[in-house]
Amino acid sequence: MLIKPDATKRNLVGKILSIVEDEGFKIVKIKSQKMSKSLAKEFYAVHRKKDFFKDLVDYMCSGLTVGVILERKNAINHLREIVGATDPKEAKEGTIRHLFGETFRRNSVHASDSKKSFVYEKRVFFKEK
Ligand code: CMP
Repeated sequence: MLIKPDATKRNLVGKILSIVEDEGFKIVKIKSQKMSKSLAKEFYAVHRKKDFFKDLVDYMCSGLTVGVILERKNAINHLREIVGATDPKEAKEGTIRHLFGETFRRNSVHASDSKKSFVYEKRVFFKEK
């Protein structure tokens, strides 16, 4: 999971991690950093051709982000469930984006959508092999 600048600016890191822990996730690694443009571009490379790419990259570099490696049974699916829909207006009540998201872009958190993207995103954000 990646906690985005809109959430770190509003001091929501503790609240978000508390929700995640209450759902049975273990926090196995955590790192806070202000992403560089090149890091954000690499992290979201899958969206590089989209018209919202530049604004997404600028926004992701606008403040601190917190990357969190989480463990739990069925982790990817369960995290996506509790994170909610990309657009906070469409996210189910009680989900993280429903509770804290502001707009489509400022939607507080990112959650890997597959094992493959998790492996890629972890390597990019934590700069690991
Ligand atoms: P996330 O799950 O982090 O994955 C990519 C992000 O791009 C997504 O959340 C949104 O915040 C953002 N995004 C996706 N589609 C759009 C769009 N049409 N307009 C603006 N932002 C978008």
